[in-house]
Amino acid sequence: MGPPDAILGITEAYKRDTNPKKVNLGAGAYRDDQGKPFVLPSVREAERQIVEAKLDKEYAGIVGLTDFTDAAAKLAFGENSEVVKSKRNATVQAISGTGALRVGAEVLSKWFQPNKVIYQPIPTWGNHIPIFKFAGLDVKQYRYYDKNTCGFDEKGCLDDILKIPEKSIILLHACAHNPTGVDPTPEQWAKISDAVKKRNLYVFFDMAYQGFASGDINRDAQAVRYFVENGHNVCLAQSFAKNMGLYGERVGAYTIVCKDPEEASRVMSQVKILIRPMISNPPIHGARIATKILNDPKLRAQWLVDVKGMADRIISMRSQLKDLLKKEGSTRNWNHITDQIGMFCFSGISPEQVDRLAKDYSIYLTRDGRISIAGISSKNVGYLAKSLHEVTK
Ligand code: LMR
Repeated sequence: MGPPDAILGITEAYKRDTNPKKVNLGAGAYRDDQGKPFVLPSVREAERQIVEAKLDKEYAGIVGLTDFTDAAAKLAFGENSEVVKSKRNATVQAISGTGALRVGAEVLSKWFQPNKVIYQPIPTWGNHIPIFKFAGLDVKQYRYYDKNTCGFDEKGCLDDILKIPEKSIILLHACAHNPTGVDPTPEQWAKISDAVKKRNLYVFFDMAYQGFASGDINRDAQAVRYFVENGHNVCLAQSFAKNMGLYGERVGAYTIVCKDPEEASRVMSQVKILIRPMISNPPIHGARIATKILNDPKLRAQWLVDVKGMADRIISMRSQLKDLLKKEGSTRNWNHITDQIGMFCFSGISPEQVDRLAKDYSIYLTRDGRISIAGISSKNVGYLAKSLHEVTK
């Protein structure tokens, strides 16, 4: 019998719990202030229009819907991006962020030379490690998070990057780092870019939370755009699970930035050869929704409001939780709850304290102490603060 998944296993344990007060702060999935799954108004409207249009259900091409991949690349690199304009991006549709990472891992496993090693931050999203390992790459790590400050370990990170063997791969979280909620500042990104250049590393960006860090899709894409402007021909995994709430639809994209359109078409031909035996071709419904939202000015405007609304609710939950912990009498420093950004707070509590929260209070989070702030609502924030204070006294 294999062990339960470190993140999705939490949802299973939560579902089995019969306590009416139970709270699921495990998987990163947005909830509204009633604690209910949230379908974005822009998504509802796009879906209505798609159903009304009575489209067919034919297969997409191996690389998915081209209207979707064009729109996804523009969203990441910018409407006026030189990469997109000169068509030097090879972009394929993928089964959400995980599928995009997996396609990328397979491509690098087959083609990357000479070091089939990917360096990942400590800590990183739990699934990053098996995604690359199972594709045949070696996974190593670099320092990223400083436990003492609950912030970015700039020195450790740069020192480690400067020691990575040349021509290896480095994984960077584009924004709203998962699980820590700690992102480098633009000045720190510039230093990372320089260090990466010095070591001649190949950059793999994972952007699963565009819009969720700041509420602004362009601001959240700054690191990716900065690297590209600085001459890094990166590759990029994108997910639309969080920023469009399309979790179960599995909408994502994988892009390899190439040196010119001719290289992009050769790369594309090889990526196709890898995708065909994995999934044949990707599902169309969610991609149609995303395409409609990105390409229809009215729906796009609504979507930006929707994203901002989700980001703002999360920010407000962060400050309520911090204030309530203080009111409960907690003397611990909880500033990182509001300093960190995105969907998660890396709370700093121990695995034993996490276990107590589950056992005594039916509050579920991952054992590394990560809290999915998106699962907190006005209804449960008081109960959470009280319980968190009890286990950290
Ligand atoms: C998370 O980190 O909770 C999400 O990305 C969901 C997942 O698949 O792990």
